Amino acid sequence: MIVHPEIEKYLEKLSPLAHPVLEEMQRLAAERNFPIIGPLVGRFLVSLIQFGHVHTVLECGSGFGYSALWMATALSENANITCIEYDPANIELAKNFFKKAGLSHKITFLQGNALEIVPTLSHTYDLILNDVDKEQYPPLLPLLLPRLRTGGMLITDNVLWKGKVTREPQDIPTRAIQQYTEALMQQKDLWSSIIPIRDGLSISIKLRV
Ligand SMILES: C[S@@+](CC[C@H](N)C(=O)[O-])C[C@H]1O[C@@H](n2cnc3c(N)ncnc32)[C@H](O)[C@@H]1O
Repeated sequence: MIVHPEIEKYLEKLSPLAHPVLEEMQRLAAERNFPIIGPLVGRFLVSLIQFGHVHTVLECGSGFGYSALWMATALSENANITCIEYDPANIELAKNFFKKAGLSHKITFLQGNALEIVPTLSHTYDLILNDVDKEQYPPLLPLLLPRLRTGGMLITDNVLWKGKVTREPQDIPTRAIQQYTEALMQQKDLWSSIIPIRDGLSISIKLRV
């Protein structure tokens, strides 16, 4: 991890969860060794949603709904998150967690590959969270950009990839993340910055050009 474990522990201890169901989801992630954004990034997403007047969210790679549930706690009652997820079992788990949290009215699931589903979408979104398989980051980027409204935010998880991005890449996911992050930084209609929180989070604001 990027942040010193003691600092990470300290920050997590300071930061209450936005909903009790999140604790159950964290336990499940720990049991299954399933990668979730974790409470510090969850909390930061809530800040971005509140600051950015976000009403529509698209998440690509939503797992069993942990990151989506954090975001749902911050969205107004008539706002919506559309989640794209490969694995039907994860979608079932997410539906149950959302039901338990009383937040089902804020979520829509699309089962399948984000690379195939995103081009079929016609809306633009205020916030897009990208957390798909890392080798799919580069081909997904040009598909996501037309779906982001001007002034909206594209958030991407794992852009520092346990620090591996700083070294000559030995593997496909690391190279893909490097390519993606370079493309984010070069893109004329995006203003991107990288926050070294957890595994690295990029925030790209879509500019009017
Ligand atoms: C890192 S986990 C997501 C965790 C989730 N964002 C969270 O923090 O709670 C990645 C998820 O994306 C799904 N996934 C990966 N690539 C995908 C793709 N191209 N389309 C749809 N789902 C994908 C996987 O099945 C997995 O559940």
